[in-house]
This record gives sequence, structure tokens and C-alpha cells, in this order.
Amino acid sequence: MKIVHVASEMFPYLKTGGLADVVGALSCALADKGHEVSVFLPGYRSALEHGEVVGAVRRMRLKIEMANDFLSGDVRFFSPRPNLKVYLICREEFFDRRNPYGNGERDYEDNAERFIFFCKAVVEMIRLGDLQPDIVHCHDWQAALLPIWLREAERRHRVTLALKTVFTIHNIAYQGVFPSKIFARTNLPDELNQMDGLEYYSQINLMKGGIMFTDRVTTVSPRYAQEIQTPEYGCGLDGVVQARADDIVGLLNGVDSAVWNPATDGLLPARYTAENLAGKAQCRAELLRRCGFAAETKSPVFGMVARLTEQKGIDFVLANRDFFLAQNVRLVVLGSGDRRMEEELRVLAGAGVQKVCFSAKLDESMSHLIEAGSDFFLMPSVFEPCGLNQMYSQVYGTLPVVSRVGGLVDTVIDIDDDPRHGTGLMCEPSAVGLRDALQRALGLFGDRRRYAAAQQRAMAKDFSWSVAAAAYERLYEDSL
Ligand code: ADP
Ligand code: GLC
Repeated sequence: MKIVHVASEMFPYLKTGGLADVVGALSCALADKGHEVSVFLPGYRSALEHGEVVGAVRRMRLKIEMANDFLSGDVRFFSPRPNLKVYLICREEFFDRRNPYGNGERDYEDNAERFIFFCKAVVEMIRLGDLQPDIVHCHDWQAALLPIWLREAERRHRVTLALKTVFTIHNIAYQGVFPSKIFARTNLPDELNQMDGLEYYSQINLMKGGIMFTDRVTTVSPRYAQEIQTPEYGCGLDGVVQARADDIVGLLNGVDSAVWNPATDGLLPARYTAENLAGKAQCRAELLRRCGFAAETKSPVFGMVARLTEQKGIDFVLANRDFFLAQNVRLVVLGSGDRRMEEELRVLAGAGVQKVCFSAKLDESMSHLIEAGSDFFLMPSVFEPCGLNQMYSQVYGTLPVVSRVGGLVDTVIDIDDDPRHGTGLMCEPSAVGLRDALQRALGLFGDRRRYAAAQQRAMAKDFSWSVAAAAYERLYEDSL
């Protein structure tokens, strides 16, 4: 099949979260299966500066209609591996920025303009480059206009540009909602600016359009596919998702074993396997050293790597500050985002010298060291579409402590619910729930045999992308 992916992030060219890991791994897995895969991304500065991109690109110029203006851009493309092409949609003014979505304090004012331009430019490149994809697979709100614009462009040019479209919801909490005056920039017919179109409480909602106008909808875990059909988790779009209930499926993300594998991980000070965990002990020692904790620490180390947002349950961790300060445990948190959370974590680290370590950086290599060197991985999310870190932690033999929501339910079994298959601890998404799981973690860590058995089970789990990629292949074939 000829498959086009359209997304705002792809590892290793630009990453702020799991979307990048998924687009990177899925496109490579499909290319390795022999499909012809193209990925379209915005030409962010980090992508343009990436070693694979510099010097290796071909270019094509585009003119994109935005209301009554025509904006120019160019497309740079290169092929990082057989069967895979990456296209960067470039326009300096929109994408040549250090951060993709905002300046840290708030989102950029021109995000609607930027991503409407992006989607239209992708369609124009599909047309001018005569790509003729079987499937155009769009990810999250930044690519949500594409399924609609593609059909509009087909109507205008009287051609077939692609056979089917798939839209994946990675996180329904981010929808791309903008003032309705932006609608003019889409150049779509006015009837699409109504309740059965993009209109949403007198604004426009790009994700709503993506869900409504694509051939198939997917999300990143079976549990989340159900949850987003309820008011509790649907973030106002539960009705829209429900209307597509027959066409929505939850396909679990996988782990890219070329990047996340303790036996080969070049970012770790030592490598290890389930049979020989000596390297894990070295990683733990290095983690303790990097955090400034005493080298001989025997007590459990809790690790956490997350965007600092309400989603990730940081407030539940903060509400348990007395646990981390009073108990004989260590806590390492790597994450950036919300300024208040950063500040409160800094205060906690200040109060817990030699016990709590917080780093507000984006640090790929530290994220691997935390996965490998911790004894438990914390992910007490309020909601979680899939979550990758809890899978990485199991592969690295670090037991996850997670809340009972979304993809966490589909990927972790609580050791007390099922002592023969359990690989982690689960809790209700609340401060009290987390407290209970932390207490149980202490008990589990004290029982070395039970801990080691759970660790072996965790490392034996198969989260490989080949399973997930095969599920997407079936979905594409079925839709065709
Ligand atoms: P989400 O996409 O909601 O952020 P996931 O668990 O799916 O959550 O994926 C998060 C990804 O982002 C993981 O690869 C994780 O290691 C990475 N990550 C998050 N914060 C940081 C950070 N501060 N430094 C490095 N990697 C990070
Ligand atoms: C989103 C979700 C996360 C998911 C990731 C990749 O960022 O928050 O749960 O794992 O997308 O699908």
C-alpha cells in the first residue's frame, strides 16, 4: 500500500511527547513491512537542523490559498530509510521556531493559521507530487483539517487524490479550538461552519472536523476508545465520537525496540537483560549519582518522566509530599511544562535534599536512565489515552505504579489483583489512591522474591510495534 502519515511530531526530528515516538515507530514498522510510506511534518527548526536533513534534501515550491491571500512555502524531502520518505512543510514565519506550539507561557497566537497552512500544503504536495496514496493517516488536531480539505481539493480539481483517510486521536484534550473568524482561512464552503461541520459553541473545532469527516477513526488504546464516548473523558466531543462509534477502534501503541531496549540502549551506562540484571544495578547507581543521592541507597527509587500538565497526575504526587519526605524512599522527576508545577516540584526537591531530585529539562538520555535505574515508575495520570512510559518501564524491569484509566488499564496488571500475572500497581486517579499504591509498593519492594518475579514477568511482555503495525495494516485494508 501507499500510505501517507500527517503529524506534527516525529522522533527523531521533533518530539514533545508520545505522538513523536508513535509516528516515528509506526511509519518505520510499516516501511519495513514493504509499504511505501511518506510522512509529512512541519519544517520546525529542530527538524531542519537534524543531521539527516541538512544537505540531504530536495525541494519544491508551493503557493497556498488562505482566504484571499496566497502564501508561499516550500517542501523539503529526503529518505531516511528504504520505503520511507519524510516531507517537511516549510515556511520560516510559521515553523522556524524553537518550540512547536507556544512559548512556554501560552500557545502561539497564529496556531490556527500555521496548521491550516500545514494541512493545505500537504494536500497540495500530494496533488503536485502525484503521490496517489491509498491511505492518508492524520494524527491529532494539527492534521485534523486534512480529511476535509483533501475532499474539497478533489472537488475543485476534479481528481482523486487519495482513496481513504484515517484520523487518530492521540489526546482528545487538545482539540484545536479557534475563533470562528479563522474559518475564512480554510476556504471551505460556508455550510461547513455549522453545527454539523466545524462549528463548536460559536468557535471552530478542528478535531471535531477530523472525527466527523474521515473514513475511519482510531485512538491509541481500546479502553480510551470507550472512555471518550462518555462526558467524563470526552472533553465535550463525546457526542461527536459516539456518532462514529461504528467506525472507531482503539489500537494499542507499541514500544520501538530500536530505541527502547535495555539490551542495546546506547544512552545507558550499562546494558542488561532479564537473565542478567547486573547492568540495571549499574544504571541505578548512575541514577543515584546523577541525582546527588547516597550511592549505597537500598531503599526504593521512584522515577517519573512526564510533561507537567494536569493530565499526568503531578498534583497527586505533590499532595503526597509528606510520604516522599518521611518515608525511606527516593523520588526522581524529569519534566517540564506548567510553571506552577515546576515551582512546587522545586520546593519539594529543596525540602527533600538527598531524597527528591527534580529536573525541568527535556533530556532524552536522562529519561532512559530513569526508566532503567528506578525501582518503580510513577504514572498516576488523571486520564491517559495510551501512555508509553509505563510500557517502557516494564521492558526495562521497572515496575509501573499507574492509575486505572485509559491505556494504563490495557497495559498493566496489578499484582494484588492477579498475583500470577501482575507486573505493577494500580490506583484510583486521586491523591489518596496514589498514597495507597505507594504504600503497597513499599511492601512489595520489601518482599524481594515477589518483586523479582514481577520484574521478570514485566520484562517478558511483548509490546513490540510489529503487533500494532499489523493491526493498522488490517484497518487500512479493511477500509479500502
Ligand atoms: P504523552 O505523549 O502524553 O506525553 P507518553 O507516555 O505517551 O505521554 O509519551 C511521553 C514521551 O515523552 C516518552 O517518550 C517520554 O520519555 C517523553 N518525555 C516526556 N517528558 C520528557 C522530558 N522532560 N525529557 C525527555 N523525555 C520526555
Ligand atoms: C498522547 C497521549 C499519550 C499517548 C501518546 C501517543 O500524547 O497523551 O497517552 O501515549 O499520545 O499516542
